Amino acid sequence: MKSEIWAIGGGKGGTGKSFVTSSMGMNLARQGKRVTLIDADLGGANLHSFLKIKKPKHSLTDFFEKKTPLSEIIIDTQVPNLRFVTGDVRSLGTTGIKYTQKLKLYRHIKNISADYVLIDLGAGSGHNTIDTFLMADKMIVVILPEITSIENLYLFIKKVLFRKLNRLLNDHGLKNAAKKAWDERKTHHIKSINELIKHIQSISPEIKKLVDEALFNFKIYIVLNQVKNQEHMDTGASVKSVLTKYFGIDTRLIGFVHYTEFFWKIVKNSPANTPQIISPSSTTSEINSIVNNVIADKQIILPDLING
Ligand SMILES: Nc1ncnc2c1ncn2[C@@H]1O[C@H](COP(=O)(O)OP(=O)(O)OP(=O)(O)O)[C@@H](O)[C@H]1O
Ligand SMILES: [Mg+2]
Repeated sequence: MKSEIWAIGGGKGGTGKSFVTSSMGMNLARQGKRVTLIDADLGGANLHSFLKIKKPKHSLTDFFEKKTPLSEIIIDTQVPNLRFVTGDVRSLGTTGIKYTQKLKLYRHIKNISADYVLIDLGAGSGHNTIDTFLMADKMIVVILPEITSIENLYLFIKKVLFRKLNRLLNDHGLKNAAKKAWDERKTHHIKSINELIKHIQSISPEIKKLVDEALFNFKIYIVLNQVKNQEHMDTGASVKSVLTKYFGIDTRLIGFVHYTEFFWKIVKNSPANTPQIISPSSTTSEINSIVNNVIADKQIILPDLING
């Protein structure tokens, strides 16, 4: 059976993408699902540290440079059912990868024998990152309740949508139509990406049909991380409503994770004596709901911490 691919991104650095990816992966593996995690971070590959393992010898660079099949780069972790592929400086983050190589990687990813493949995208919104985000079945963003994270998210989603629309329009002989309309947005009275999409749809019934098809089922799942108080919790709902209004796309709040003082500890009985992240059981249960909400496509209403 085909695996389901989840990509975890969001633009800004340090929001908790790797932490959320590794925790979701472990959660799925503990539910008995076969999971492969892919660290596609731009030079900051550190997913392995969240998994109690040393950085593997072989990485995606071997796939690109030595033509090593992806199946030979995937390693087992200490968690049963959980396997792992690491990236590094020269892998997905660089612009030097040829388009055909990228397509080959996506083909290999789609052929991984697993129930779920989770891709940790790292920070940034370069073409490779955006394309990898777009190839996923479920597009997940991890944000912090702070202004820079939210601004980065808008830019990230804007790039994702532009990339998707541009590719679609290019394929139908309308090269740069989205960019052109956006550059001339004042003339067309376009104030949001939502209005831009409506403008493009008005070009012709054929284009409308194409755009409708491309955006059908286009959903962004949002995880709000490092929540400390009610004000933080409330930003989740406002981000969602602004995103819906500005982009006109289906954005789903699938969960939150409280800020928690987790700590790293050397695990004595681990063969490699590697560090392990220790988090409280409340975090485990927050991750569990996030995973179940992605699977069930269910969104949440963020809780009122004060009034219960
Ligand atoms: N809920 C949380 N509570 C407290 N600390 C957290 C939480 N989530 C993540 N962190 C911490 O924040 C830091 C950044 O987390 P992480 O590496 O997962 O972010 P990232 O988005 O993957 O960063 P990058 O963009 O650099 O890849 C780490 O030190 C992590 O332990
Ligand atoms: Mg990371």
